[in-house]
Amino acid sequence: MDDSNPFLKMFQDPEAVARYAEGPPPFVPGFDALHRMTDVLLSEAAPADAHVLVLGAGGGLELKALASRHPGWRFVGVDPARPMLDLAVRTLGPLSAQVELVEGYIDDAPENQFDAAVCLLTLHFLDRAERLRTLKEILRRLRPGAPFVAAHSSFPQDPAVRGLWLSRYAAHAIAAGADPALAEQARQGVETTIHLFDPEEDEAILREAGFRDVSLFWAAFTWRGWIAYA
Ligand SMILES: C[S@@+](CC[C@H](N)C(=O)[O-])C[C@H]1O[C@@H](n2cnc3c(N)ncnc32)[C@H](O)[C@@H]1O
Repeated sequence: MDDSNPFLKMFQDPEAVARYAEGPPPFVPGFDALHRMTDVLLSEAAPADAHVLVLGAGGGLELKALASRHPGWRFVGVDPARPMLDLAVRTLGPLSAQVELVEGYIDDAPENQFDAAVCLLTLHFLDRAERLRTLKEILRRLRPGAPFVAAHSSFPQDPAVRGLWLSRYAAHAIAAGADPALAEQARQGVETTIHLFDPEEDEAILREAGFRDVSLFWAAFTWRGWIAYA
C-alpha cells in the first residue's frame, strides 16, 4: 500500500477507522442512494443465490446494505487494510455469516466465476496502470454477462473548472454537517493525492479493461458511478 497517501494511511489507523462510518455520507452526495442503485443494478442480472465480489470492502457499509437485502447472496470482500476489515466485521454483525473477508488486493481474491462485482469509493486510489490491471483481474473473476458496479471520484480535470468542483465537494460536506476543517483537509487530500481522471477517461479505462455496455448511472458533484458487464 502507498503509505505516502494520507487517505490510505488513515485506513491503517484504528482510531481514524473507528470514525469511518460517519465519513462517507456528507462527502458523497447520495451515499445511501448509491447503495440502493447498486443493489437494483446487480439484482437485474444476479441470481437469488449470487456469489458477489466486493473489492475495497473495508468498513463493510456496502456489504451490509447488499447482504441485508439479499439473504441468499454470498460475498467475498477484499481489502488491504486490516483495521477496515475489522470494522467491516463490526458493521456486519450477524450478516458476517454471508461474507468471507480477505486481507489483500484483487490478486488475493479467489479465482471464482462470480455472478457480480462491486468496487465503491476505491479505484481513485489506484494510478491508471494499476487501475487497468485491477479491472482486468476483476473481469477475469466474473462469469460472462455478470454486472459490475464501480463508483469513485471522477470529475472534469480541466484546470479552468477543477478547483470549482473541489470547492463544491467541500461545500457539500459542510452543508451536510461535516466539520469545516475536516472538509478542507479532505478537499486538499483529493486535490493532491488521489488519481483523478475526466469521467470520459474513467469510462474508457473500463472499456479498455474489457468491460462492455458501460453506462454512467450516477453523477454527483465530484463523483461518478458506472454499470458495466463482463
Ligand atoms: C474510502 S474506502 C471505501 C470503503 C467502502 N468501499 C465504502 O464504500 O465505504 C477505500 C477502501 O479501499 C481500500 N483500498 C485501497 N487500495 C486498494 C486496492 N488497491 N485494492 C482494494 N482495496 C483498496 C482501502 O483500504 C479502503 O478500505
